[in-house]
Amino acid sequence: KIDKYEVLQDLMRRRGFAWGSYEIYGGAAGFYDYGPLGATIKRKIEHKIRKAFQREGFFELETPTITPEAVFIASGHVEKFVDPLVECKKCGSRFRADHLVEEALGVDTEGMSAEHLTELIREHGIRCPECEGELGEVWYFNLMFETYIGPYKDKKGYLRPETAQGLFINFKRLNHFARNQLPFGVFQIGKAYRNEISPRQGMIRLREFTQAEAEIFFNPKETEHPHFDEVKDEVLRLYPIEHQLKDLGMIEITLEEAVKKGHIMNTFFAYYMAMVKRVLLDIGIPEKAIRFRQQLPEERAHYSSDTWDVEIYSERFGWIECVGIAYRGDYDLSKHIKKSGEDLTVMIHYKEPKIVKKLKVSLNMGRVGPKLKGDAKKIAQKLKEMSEEELRKIVTSLEETGKVIIDGYELEKNDFIVKEVEEKVTGEKIVPHVLEPSFGIDRPFYLLLENSLTIDEDGRAYLKLKKDMAPIEVAVLPLVAKEPLKSIAYDVFRTLQKAGFIVVYDEKDTVGRRYARYDEIGTPYCVTIDNQTPEDKTVTVRDRDTREQIRVKIDELPEKLRELIFG
Ligand code: GAP
Repeated sequence: KIDKYEVLQDLMRRRGFAWGSYEIYGGAAGFYDYGPLGATIKRKIEHKIRKAFQREGFFELETPTITPEAVFIASGHVEKFVDPLVECKKCGSRFRADHLVEEALGVDTEGMSAEHLTELIREHGIRCPECEGELGEVWYFNLMFETYIGPYKDKKGYLRPETAQGLFINFKRLNHFARNQLPFGVFQIGKAYRNEISPRQGMIRLREFTQAEAEIFFNPKETEHPHFDEVKDEVLRLYPIEHQLKDLGMIEITLEEAVKKGHIMNTFFAYYMAMVKRVLLDIGIPEKAIRFRQQLPEERAHYSSDTWDVEIYSERFGWIECVGIAYRGDYDLSKHIKKSGEDLTVMIHYKEPKIVKKLKVSLNMGRVGPKLKGDAKKIAQKLKEMSEEELRKIVTSLEETGKVIIDGYELEKNDFIVKEVEEKVTGEKIVPHVLEPSFGIDRPFYLLLENSLTIDEDGRAYLKLKKDMAPIEVAVLPLVAKEPLKSIAYDVFRTLQKAGFIVVYDEKDTVGRRYARYDEIGTPYCVTIDNQTPEDKTVTVRDRDTREQIRVKIDELPEKLRELIFG
């Protein structure tokens, strides 16, 4: 039996798609190079995602990958982006402590302290999987790569573990750009870095990878998506939390039903689930290989209160998370407001102004002035700046105990003038909530190749890529490497190149071998210049999948190929 995985690995390396980095120095786990064909497909994937985001009116950003520490202290990554690690005392190998304990004892270790994990390892005599040696103490290891910014060791920075923070910290400018109108979306396509403890599974778990993330900022009181009607009848394959817990398996359900039944929190969320699925189909992932799995609460990232993973099926690895759609609420903006002191809110204007009662508390200067000596002005100002809630506390304290202490002075009821006034309010400031579709690029890239690999009954192995995703779109081949066929073929090649196709000219080997060569890498059409061409100015166009040929006039070739490849 043919091992498809082996065939694919060989094809990826031999034909220039992708391979482990730093080969000539023995390799480095978790890093991959994209070769000429791989890089082209990767860009095509990114391009389709970019187009999909732009169709929603989102705007693109590009921010640095090296980030000062303060950002990730605020975002919670310094504290929470950690995995528990344990080292073998004998051979020095390091492992995910939670994985060892889970495998050995079958218990859920989510949220367990390092001490608790150490205790379980000792108690149950869990040994090093490599050499059976004794394991040491467990500690929490942060997955961010650390660096220093400039020549000062105290100016710590990190390589970003997600592209998202670059979008949050620019919120003030972005909101201004969006003219203070919610909802609006922004996105970024770029590298992210995670010092994964044990990167395995080829391109699935990398230490440097590409993400395409959008942050959609919205008013939490307005969660009906205006275009939901366009997608409401779409049927998605869902695997909601309760189905996982009860072992009920996946369901196929329209988005409208899924929202009605409470599987998906609202139409806003549902709309972007449909968008993600469309992009994956557009890339060429088969529909049967796509499912949406809701993350169990213990799986969610520290910032998320609901996440749906979009998983793609791999014959080799099973279902693989490729996109996360997370409800981040106001988590990130609130954290950055607190840490930076900046106003990252949006003013929401009411349709009609509202009349609200406001508490006014001021000092009864005539009475209290001498008592407060030089501090009266300072305390009066403080009262002016207090929130409604703080003022209410003062009034309650005065009513209940007859006194209140401010800046060390004991003040009584008569020291204040308390009034309730009516004010016209035209709007309020809110911290927007965020929905985040976050695509990885490398995983869909690999899974696209895996899902495209086709082996015909006669043993022909080739990538049945969606035609517009092929890294080489057309190959131009003279039937034999002789004149006049060579010159005509070269002219055809040059014409197609100028018309914008990714096209190659190839005269080496028999035409049969050349067809096999281009089929293998997914080239949808081979154009052959044969002995009939000099007579009637036509060429053959051969289809990769059916291997059938049609004759096309050279003059009409660019238009015909455009139609065939891009539809
Ligand atoms: N900002 C949200 C976020 O980063 P995530 O689920 O951790 O969410 C999103 O990452 C996507 O990035 C994943 O679905 C996956 O495709 C990709 N990704 C994450 N870690 C990866 C890794 N170590 N190697 C390759 N891709 C990875």
